Amino acid sequence: MTANATTREIWLDTDPGFDDWLAWALLEADPGFTVRGASVVAGNAPLPVVLANARRIHALHGWKTPIWAGADQPLVQPQVTAQDVLGTQGMHTSGAALPDTESALQRGHGVDAMIDCVRAHPGRITLLAIGPLTNVALAFAKAPELPGLLAGLVIMGGSLGAGNTTPVAEFNIHADPEAASQVFARAREVPGGTRLFGIEVCRQVQGGDAHVAALREGGGRAARGSERAAILTDHFDGYVGMARRRGRATAPMYDLTPVAWLAHPEWFTLQPAHVDVELRGTLTRGMTVCELRVPQRATPNAEIAMTADGDRVMGWAVEVLRGAL
Ligand code: RIB
Ligand code: CA
Repeated sequence: MTANATTREIWLDTDPGFDDWLAWALLEADPGFTVRGASVVAGNAPLPVVLANARRIHALHGWKTPIWAGADQPLVQPQVTAQDVLGTQGMHTSGAALPDTESALQRGHGVDAMIDCVRAHPGRITLLAIGPLTNVALAFAKAPELPGLLAGLVIMGGSLGAGNTTPVAEFNIHADPEAASQVFARAREVPGGTRLFGIEVCRQVQGGDAHVAALREGGGRAARGSERAAILTDHFDGYVGMARRRGRATAPMYDLTPVAWLAHPEWFTLQPAHVDVELRGTLTRGMTVCELRVPQRATPNAEIAMTADGDRVMGWAVEVLRGAL
């Protein structure tokens, strides 16, 4: 979709993962967004796996957004993935697999493509990072002016309290703490502001069987029960299945939460904070340390999303996605 005066222009940095898939699909389907490009980063699974997922998802939906491969390793630490939870492919399915048709990759590195895009559209690109922040940190290091050229920086990651990977660390931060630390050190330079969507607010947005069923009917352009709807909803069912196996009926829809805020900020409340990342703690490495007593105790560098109207978010997401299936 070409950008016009009213669409919000997005650069997506992602590590698909099913919640990434839904976030991306919403960006492509909602007319309020123009996706300028997508860079893929190692995270949920090693780069070859998340890249194949991205290219297959892109081909399944017939999207036109150019895709680049980004970083395959964290900045400093050995790679960690979520394959222990998500399986070798980084996504579960209760039935249909992603067809192995893959969209073409753009030549060059995703970090350079991100830099080029932001430089070409100063003040207009919102950088949405829904995986480890390796590509974003590399871009900020290679092009120090980049944060100042962004319309906004929106991150899914971190937490105010407990983690989802270690007792105190959320996965995207845990996977590359040095990258996250470097990004938050520059967050104040983003003219449109930096927003952080952590575990607590994402857990207020839950997906379950009712949402899977609503999407399984397909809708929009495709006939009822389209192949695309079956493949996506089998993966949605696989994602919810992880929660079911832990005795819960629904799963947090992490990565689509910031997309919903971009489309409908009125469904959220945010609070200014100073966010830092613990790098040295034996037990706390990868923890986002959020000082909410700003500006008294610290200078704010971000806004943290505190509440979400989860029912409205999921109602919107299902409606938009049905139109895309
Ligand atoms: O902690 C949730 C985050 O880790 C999401 O972005 C999910 O896709 C994984 O990358
Ligand atoms: Ca992700």
